[in-house]
Amino acid sequence: MSKGKVLLVLYRGNEHAKEEQKLLGCLENELGIREFIESHGYELVSTDDKDPEPSSQVDKELEDTEIIITTPFFPAYVTKERIAKAPKLKMCITAGVGSDHIDLNAANERKIAVTEVTGSNVVSVAEHVIMTMLVLVRNFVPAHEQVKKGLWDIAGAAKDEYDLEDKVIATVGAGRIGYRVLERLIAFNPKKLLYYDYQDLPKDAIDKLNQASKLFNGKDNIVERVENLEDMVGQADVVTINCPLHEKSKGLFNKELISKMKDGAWLVNTARGAICVAEDVAAAVKSGKLRGYGGDVWYPQPAPKDHPWREMQNKHNAGNAMTPHVSGTSLDAQARYANGVKSILNSYFTGKHDYRPQDVIVIDGDYATKAYGQRK
Ligand code: NAI
Repeated sequence: MSKGKVLLVLYRGNEHAKEEQKLLGCLENELGIREFIESHGYELVSTDDKDPEPSSQVDKELEDTEIIITTPFFPAYVTKERIAKAPKLKMCITAGVGSDHIDLNAANERKIAVTEVTGSNVVSVAEHVIMTMLVLVRNFVPAHEQVKKGLWDIAGAAKDEYDLEDKVIATVGAGRIGYRVLERLIAFNPKKLLYYDYQDLPKDAIDKLNQASKLFNGKDNIVERVENLEDMVGQADVVTINCPLHEKSKGLFNKELISKMKDGAWLVNTARGAICVAEDVAAAVKSGKLRGYGGDVWYPQPAPKDHPWREMQNKHNAGNAMTPHVSGTSLDAQARYANGVKSILNSYFTGKHDYRPQDVIVIDGDYATKAYGQRK
């Protein structure tokens, strides 16, 4: 008899899983942890059948599941209702970063721990953010499409193409990803880097950015903290969202906040789809209020075929830099989060519960992190 059940929910890799062994994050390769789990006397059930609630395999397995492992890329939404159907559930592990697909308050009520592999893909995402800014600002997509169609319409692409240099760039959230985005932006010689966060960036982190800016671009005091979000978005040519999804950030970028942004600004969101109101963003791109929007996060995931961000474009048939949720799941990142999940499981199975403090989101009925909104 097994000691308990671990339920692992991952996207299916199909032929790609056979082609590339490093695709650890897909159903077929099971994060490379089956043997490890079974060697500890636990049963592993893995599935990609997560929707719809309440008739998926995930729902059927919940009754005797002790640990659920899911990814933000293909999330099994661990709702209050699902938690109620899982009386033995003790821990939810996110293979990656961002545990908003779990109802954290419901987990707290039941004293279920939620952990994630903090830091495992923050560089991967920061790189994707820089890429998305460039794709939008340089108007890459329409230019590339011309090439495939055998066209050579320079003006058609150039009429919506700018430089990232000398722009004011602002991040909502200056944690691990937001800070790495700011670091990487120094190389593009921005006019100003702004951040909005209720947690301070350490002084030495700001000094480092200012010194690099002085050294490479000859500009002093490049970084500025802005206390008011509306003030910040009103000054920025490019806004990047890098905060978790929680009660206070859900729907934050709605019609009203977007109306406070600079006309023709670009918005990049690799944090979570639900931080933006999808219809409001698509309308702003269509009207020209936003010159473009890009990122890799949607709600729900997988995104429905008729999600407004699939077809959204500006008046130049451009301004859309969306991808599926791939930024944090590069093969390098997969190796890191697969390892991290194993180490969290090891702490659990051995009864030591000596998790890395930064991996713990909620535990013993309370939030262990300060990143999911300001709380008492
Ligand atoms: P972090 O915890 O290091 O930093 C988050 C920062 O956001 C914190 O400083 C926090 O104070 C701040 N924050 C929270 N609410 C805020 C608000 N309403 N306004 C302004 N700032 C706020 O987290 P990290 O590693 O930087 O990740 C951030 C988020 O990025 C994750 O929670 C996740 O949603 C998303 N992410 C996306 C990935 C992808 O593949 N697209 C992969 C990894 C993370």
